[in-house]
Amino acid sequence: MLNTKEAIEKRRSIRKYKPDFIPDENIRELLDSARLAPSGCNAQPWRFKIVKEAGVKARLAEAAYNQSFIADAPVVIVCCADIQGYIDGTVSGVQDLGKVGAVKDGMVTVLQRRADNLKTMDRSELVPIIAVNVAIAIEHIVLRALDFGLGSCWVRLFYEQKVKDLFEWRDNIYVVALLPIGYPAEMPKARKRLELNEILID
Ligand SMILES: Cc1cc2nc3c(=O)[nH]c(=O)nc-3n(C[C@H](O)[C@H](O)[C@H](O)COP(=O)(O)O)c2cc1C
Repeated sequence: MLNTKEAIEKRRSIRKYKPDFIPDENIRELLDSARLAPSGCNAQPWRFKIVKEAGVKARLAEAAYNQSFIADAPVVIVCCADIQGYIDGTVSGVQDLGKVGAVKDGMVTVLQRRADNLKTMDRSELVPIIAVNVAIAIEHIVLRALDFGLGSCWVRLFYEQKVKDLFEWRDNIYVVALLPIGYPAEMPKARKRLELNEILID
């Protein structure tokens, strides 16, 4: 099993997959790693749809500007945010944080006010706030996948409405990313990254 540093350094976006079956137990483990991600007020807004059917994967690939590798992956995880779930989870999460003393009383009041404000915000305001939380859970999946020899690729380039229509999801669901997963049939070299001094702000 890889340690965290090794997983971070070895991970690549994989866009070619072997057709081999992925055990359900491994998929379950990936979702369990997602479940353990941190989230604001412990709201846990992530929701996942596991897609294995060839026809549905093909429709997802088409919704993603014909990125055909999505259809070739044995499994695609459609990674979503539940907007109402985030609001409800924030309200109950604030109470829990107060109860266990994770935040001070004054902060509980501030967070409660913020949770109430969420109820008046519209989807376009909420989505970026909520998506941050889901992104963390997705990256847990991406890194944990390496423990099973699995590769994946974040996909954000898609028509959200097309994906939602495919599953008949209402506006309460926001699709954050598609995550095709499979055993790598390619070993890409590390892609260029900015140097440390380039990511520091003076
Ligand atoms: C938020 C996000 C969106 C991305 N969307 C796509 C995508 O739609 N299609 C794709 O092929 N790769 C996509 N990628 C993968 C990036 O191209 C890739 O992470 C980047 O080029 C660095 O390569 P590496 O992941 O192999 O290190 C996305 C990555 C992230 C984090």
